[in-house]
Amino acid sequence: MPRIIAIANQKGGVGKTTTAINISASVAAAERRALVVDMDPQANLTSGLGIDTDRLDGQTIYRGIIDGVSAEGLILDTELEKLKVLPSERSLTGAELELVDQPRREYRLRELLAPIAASFDFIFIDCPPSLGLLTVNALVAADAVLVPLQCEFFALAGVSELMTTVSRVRASFNPQLTVLGIVFTMVDGRTNLTAQVMEDVRAAFPQAVFDSVVPRNVRLAEAPSFGKPILLYDIRSKGAEAYLDLTKELLRHEEKSPR
Ligand SMILES: Nc1ncnc2c1ncn2[C@@H]1O[C@H](COP(=O)(O)OP(=O)(O)OP(=O)(O)O)[C@@H](O)[C@H]1O
Ligand SMILES: [Mg+2]
Repeated sequence: MPRIIAIANQKGGVGKTTTAINISASVAAAERRALVVDMDPQANLTSGLGIDTDRLDGQTIYRGIIDGVSAEGLILDTELEKLKVLPSERSLTGAELELVDQPRREYRLRELLAPIAASFDFIFIDCPPSLGLLTVNALVAADAVLVPLQCEFFALAGVSELMTTVSRVRASFNPQLTVLGIVFTMVDGRTNLTAQVMEDVRAAFPQAVFDSVVPRNVRLAEAPSFGKPILLYDIRSKGAEAYLDLTKELLRHEEKSPR
């Protein structure tokens, strides 16, 4: 069975989607069969992989979660042979409300992915910037959560809130959920604030911080407008190097730890 990793942080704009696109692409480039799931109505991941949501004719994750359409019929190819995507679009905004009074509302994504899971080595789920039902669905479907973190003043408080949600999901729905780790994103040189936040986060979560950090790199910000992961946009950039390193670290970690 695959490893299913949710990429979550309720804070907006911290690099979740960039991390989801580029880790999944790097894993695929390393010959692992990867699926990346867009669980965000903003659909930045879908468009960042070069898919025009207007042309999907509504065949997106919304149909899978709300109407019970099988994932197999919704998954699309990408430019990388080993990387597939389960796309999203705006309509997913409605799912949050529509699910509220539905049975097994927290298990929809888990049940959607179950029949296709065996076709992949890794499934990554890009979460929206909230701790609502869409993120809860991702945490219920996942084995582990990866937390992109920007070094700002309130970063640590935000992670603590996320960890509380992780504990609640573990207690109520998914006892096997673990925290894979925190990854620092958009790191801007070595300002005092960056260094201080990194130190505080490492002290608070000593086992859970990735050594690899992602620097602020304009090529990473440009790549989505070309519909490409950084590997295909500019493999020589600092951003590509960082995500390749991070992926190597993740694969090392995965190969070491028992499933
Ligand atoms: N390392 C980086 N260097 C420069 N720009 C970056 C980097 N990582 C992400 N960005 C840019 O910052 C913005 C926010 O990143 P991204 O969309 O990945 O965050 P997010 O957490 O998914 O946001 P949201 O919460 O809205 O879903 C995007 O414009 C992205 O291109
Ligand atoms: Mg995003």
